[in-house]
Amino acid sequence: MTAKQEWIDVAVKALDKAYVPYSHFPVGACLVTKDGKIYQGLNIENASYGLSNCAERTAFFKAVSEGEREFSHLVVAGHTPEAISPCGACRQVMAEFCAPEMPVTLIGDHGVKKEMTVEQLLPYMFTEKDL
Ligand code: THU
Repeated sequence: MTAKQEWIDVAVKALDKAYVPYSHFPVGACLVTKDGKIYQGLNIENASYGLSNCAERTAFFKAVSEGEREFSHLVVAGHTPEAISPCGACRQVMAEFCAPEMPVTLIGDHGVKKEMTVEQLLPYMFTEKDL
């Protein structure tokens, strides 16, 4: 199996662990560091809806809190007919920690897949350079 297929499997497997009693919309993520470590993420909802945390941000916050700062790839998976579309907040977090050209693989049901970059997901992004 290729490394990339392994990352996709990690993101898809996270769908079964997502805590989504309110939306019933599971999302899974696999964030890969430059040295090949992987961090799995899933969405975690709350009865106070606004506190819910997306799968992508779970993966980033797990990794960053373990001292990781350099990332090479992100996979996001959903049970969606089209490749899942990451929310705006998660795109901004990608912009914080990833190079604009970093690849992001978006997965849906039935093997649907879309390859994008962080910059394609968030053009004209706001970063530290704008401060
Ligand atoms: N969600 C994610 O986990 N990632 C996204 O990029 C889109 C939205 C979650 C948040 C919430 O738990 C559910 O999907 C429905 O919005």
